[in-house]
Amino acid sequence: MHGEMKKVTNADDLRGKPLDAADTPALLLDVDAAEANLQTMAEYFNGRPCKLRPHFKSHKCTTLARRQVALGAVGITCAKLGEAEVLAAAGINDILIANQVVGAVKMPRLVEVARRSTLRVAVDSQANVRELSQAASAAGVEVGLLIEVDVGMRRCGVPPGEPALELARFIKTCPGVRFDGIQAYEGHLVCRPDPDERATLTRRDMQLAVDTRRLIERAGIEVPILSGGGTGTYDITGPMDGIDELQSGSYALMDCSYVRIRLEFRNAMNVLATVISKPDPKRVVLDVGLKGLSCEFGPPTLVDRPGDEIPFLASEEHVGVNLCGDHPAEIGQKLRLIPSHGCTTCNLYRQYVVHRNAVIEDVWPIEGAGAMT
Ligand SMILES: Cc1ncc(COP(=O)(O)O)c(C=O)c1O
Repeated sequence: MHGEMKKVTNADDLRGKPLDAADTPALLLDVDAAEANLQTMAEYFNGRPCKLRPHFKSHKCTTLARRQVALGAVGITCAKLGEAEVLAAAGINDILIANQVVGAVKMPRLVEVARRSTLRVAVDSQANVRELSQAASAAGVEVGLLIEVDVGMRRCGVPPGEPALELARFIKTCPGVRFDGIQAYEGHLVCRPDPDERATLTRRDMQLAVDTRRLIERAGIEVPILSGGGTGTYDITGPMDGIDELQSGSYALMDCSYVRIRLEFRNAMNVLATVISKPDPKRVVLDVGLKGLSCEFGPPTLVDRPGDEIPFLASEEHVGVNLCGDHPAEIGQKLRLIPSHGCTTCNLYRQYVVHRNAVIEDVWPIEGAGAMT
């Protein structure tokens, strides 16, 4: 039934109750851990030339975005126009869409966001700049543009150096758009496990963006912002001379991939699942699968169950746990999992069940979930 699908849990039914009161699968948010993470990152950037502009795609929740701004973030980064609409509606008035927004269908929505908030968008082609310029000038708004420079990730972006200067010169001739600088994301390096190697390679590759900035400046064009960085590299990219903004997102809630390499942040996002079957004494099956847990970075891990293991994730609605025998696991029991990728897991839920020390405190909507366009 459609109405059933849309139903979200009423916070009043859960407040003050233990986690087991939540129906499963549920996405849990440990608010103590999240607050500590937000604080740790905010303190790192407090007083530094480089400012924090956290990425929304990692939690997709405006309650958290507003807290990040309250703690000193200069604005919010997001991945899609749909996320920017959610942020603008929540009163976030300084938004960077760190990707290209392309196509006539999107332009009316884009200019509406630009009417409500300071809006910046990444670009890497003259065709896209022309489209944005025409839409913005026809609507009487101004959109800031950051030229995306590819520093090695091989996703979007112009090569460093002359191609970026050429695009900056072109933007300067276009009405309705403002050249606001450069975006460069070192996504190919953020998860490198060896910290020394991560630091050396990040400095090498992000210097390409800084050098491009200097080239554009030498040509007489001001570069107000150079934005980049992620949770794995915030303290490498952030202090570099010439970097103005840092786009870390995962640090807020973390996942089991990042907790291995970023010990200063705590895991704050869990999936709560119920044991629905115990086919043999050494194996149970939980009521969550690919539709409630992303697995592109590997299977999830379990909270407080050392030795128990989830070998892989292949079913839509089931996940198997190999038991080591040290922890009870009976039909009806609820277990907590740590997703391997938080950013894609939060997109699968519509709400966080927010708890402090395993006592439910609230339910927060995940307004950006499903914001695909
Ligand atoms: C453009 C951009 N900036 C920043 C980030 C944030 O990275 P992290 O999840 O490492 O915090 C991402 C993540 O994919 C990204 O695509």
